Amino acid sequence: MTDKKIALVTGAAGGIGTEVCRLFVNNGYKVLATHRPGKEQQAANWLQEEGLAGQDIKLLALDVADHDATAEVLADTLREMGHIDVLVNNAGITRDATFKRMSWEQWKEVMDTNLNSLFSVSQPIFNQMCEQGGGRIINISSVNGLKGQFGQANYSAAKAGMIGFTKALAAEGARFGVTVNAVAPGYTATPMVTAIREDVLDSIKATIPLKRLATTEEVAGAVLYLAGEYGGYVTGETLSVNGGLYMQ
Ligand code: CAA
Repeated sequence: MTDKKIALVTGAAGGIGTEVCRLFVNNGYKVLATHRPGKEQQAANWLQEEGLAGQDIKLLALDVADHDATAEVLADTLREMGHIDVLVNNAGITRDATFKRMSWEQWKEVMDTNLNSLFSVSQPIFNQMCEQGGGRIINISSVNGLKGQFGQANYSAAKAGMIGFTKALAAEGARFGVTVNAVAPGYTATPMVTAIREDVLDSIKATIPLKRLATTEEVAGAVLYLAGEYGGYVTGETLSVNGGLYMQ
């Protein structure tokens, strides 16, 4: 058991996830960093490469797209840790294709990982937060859930769904002291974005008023704010960090 606040971050080894873990550890949280089952060695390497080994961070194998397995792993984790104070639903994938060509698998994989996971991961933790009388849930959505993106009917639908979920859960969590918010990053310097075809990425950058990608620190800073003392009165909100790409 620890007196520290415990933050569980899904998809921790991704570009944004890594920075969120780093910022939380540096700000006094104990971090539970999830990775896909079977990727234990990669996860251990990730800790080393990112200079996180030896910090207060524990790896947790969790396939967020597998409902039954997630229920089991989180029940064990809650028993072992006693409490989780911050949940960052960050795990997400892209399977970009124009809708005409999109396969059912491309649609379903994105829905399972990006949206259905919110049910499986959040429910046990939300219930425990309500019982303990407080907690913070932060969902990593996307500018593309707000504005819609060519080639991302699946991803835009899932990321928009996260925002509806955020508002509904914020309404339910308020009387228990649980806040629920979303961060909607724009195009961020992560492997997911740098994998976009160069000509396509150049044309996207040209449309961003700040004319550059976000840094992972700029996105993680928004998450830290919502998790911390100064974010206490914010709930049901979507905080855009998008360089002006989409102004609501
Ligand atoms: N608006 C309108 N038309 C567009 C368009 C746009 N934004 N982008 C492309 N088109 C047009 C093209 O000009 C082309 O027209 P013609 O056939 O007349 O030449 C047609 O649509 C087909 O375009 P592509 O050549 O790009 O088609 P493709 O099948 O080779 O590739 C794609 C499709 C994989 C979806 C590709 O367009 C792509 O990668 N797009 C970027 C998708 C994107 O932004 N993904 C974000 C990933 S990062 C992320 O998701 C993180 C986050 O949260 C921000």
